[in-house]
Amino acid sequence: MARQGLKLGAVLIGVGDASGKQLWRDPDVPLDASVNIDWYVRQTREAEEAKFDFVFIVDSQYITPDFPNHHLNRLEPLTLLSAVAVATSRIGLVATVSTTYSEPFDIARRLASLDLISNGRAGWNIVTSQDPGTAGNFSRAGHGDYEARYRRATESVEVVQGLWHSYEDGAFSQDRSAPRFLDPAKQHRLDHRGDFFSVGGPLNVQRSPQGQPPLVQAGTSPQGRELSARAADIVFSFARTPEESLDLARDVRARAEAIGRDPDELLFIPALGVTIADTDEAAAQIERDRTTAGDIRDRLGGLSRQFGGHDFSGYDLDSPFPDVPLPEAAGIRSFHDDIEKARQRGSTLRNVLEAQALSWFRLAGSPRTIADRLQLWYESRAADGFNLFVQHPADWERFRAEVVPILVERGLFRAEYEATTLRGHLGLPHISNRHAGTANAAAAATDRERADA
Ligand SMILES: Cc1cc2nc3c(=O)[nH]c(=O)nc-3n(C[C@H](O)[C@H](O)[C@H](O)COP(=O)(O)O)c2cc1C
Repeated sequence: MARQGLKLGAVLIGVGDASGKQLWRDPDVPLDASVNIDWYVRQTREAEEAKFDFVFIVDSQYITPDFPNHHLNRLEPLTLLSAVAVATSRIGLVATVSTTYSEPFDIARRLASLDLISNGRAGWNIVTSQDPGTAGNFSRAGHGDYEARYRRATESVEVVQGLWHSYEDGAFSQDRSAPRFLDPAKQHRLDHRGDFFSVGGPLNVQRSPQGQPPLVQAGTSPQGRELSARAADIVFSFARTPEESLDLARDVRARAEAIGRDPDELLFIPALGVTIADTDEAAAQIERDRTTAGDIRDRLGGLSRQFGGHDFSGYDLDSPFPDVPLPEAAGIRSFHDDIEKARQRGSTLRNVLEAQALSWFRLAGSPRTIADRLQLWYESRAADGFNLFVQHPADWERFRAEVVPILVERGLFRAEYEATTLRGHLGLPHISNRHAGTANAAAAATDRERADA
């Protein structure tokens, strides 16, 4: 697949997630930003005016009082994106839905509904959920280890995609004079029987103009990489350097090739945070001020999450990092790797908390410096695009007004939308129904049998 220009996503995180715990104190951020649909609509329209490929809504279903403010009080992604869909017309809408805590029939139906409501702009970020406590909110005895969660995810994706093939184009013939509403030969049951799910189908909603929502996967453990290779159109990551991103891309592309996929079909889109000022020095100073704002102990909640809820509040910040085992079933693998490396270096708890604020790709600089760095990543194939976490309104404004025009001028990013669907924006092919033509073939065979008789 030929590269079609840089892709840009905007991650809407209201009053601020773990990457911006102090964001809510910015007077330009409404205090109810995470539950304020007008704020989501406004930010999505701004992203659409700048011709972004998509907005992306992260999600989880378990909290403690220490979690970041955005997690404590936020809208459910598909509900919120349905409202955003009717207030926008071109931009893609990517929702996070967990395979561990949802049934595939429900996932297929809810995403297909968003896809129809938005005329083909929905996308699915597949997650297996990182917080073991989630099990307690879903009447489950346990969260399941990596292996079990990713096996379930793989089968869930297979079922969801199978259900999205329930109807061929034109299945709803809706011929009043016949009279016939549905052509039953173009409606297909799934009849899936697997290790985790038994699903008959068919789905009770038709296909959208893009055929199926594109799939996103962000797990970087070996199991997560395997799922990306098998199913993902887009791989999100927290890669901090071009080398890290290239390593991930090489590995996942090799896994995809090994199972017969064209490795160039996959798009690698790392997370990005920006601080923008007139000069690089001024931006670096703002970044330093923000990093040291607030009590460093506020960050213990984020660390605790990586350890499945372990309470770090009683430890001395300046002693070596405590000898607490990393849980097999919780957290994010790339952050676990960071913690292991910090331990090997003899870092203190304070060092780890300080570094955590910078644990993914952050750029502080003038608009030109930022555009230069993004171009470097894109041209070295370390990234096909970036997932910009929308934090301080001033940076968001300057990114759209000053960085995007430089990228457009350099021919790296679109000046206008050429497509109407998310697949179209991403340069991904429309997915044809896998049963298409089989009804005609079956009818022809029946005709032949009749003729022979
Ligand atoms: C940009 C980005 C966004 C993510 N969003 C979510 C999310 O909304 N909900 C979630 O449970 N995990 C989210 N994750 C975490 C991953 O989906 C995955 O669960 C996590 O990386 C743990 O899997 P791993 O250990 O295989 O990496 C996100 C990761 C990235 C890089």
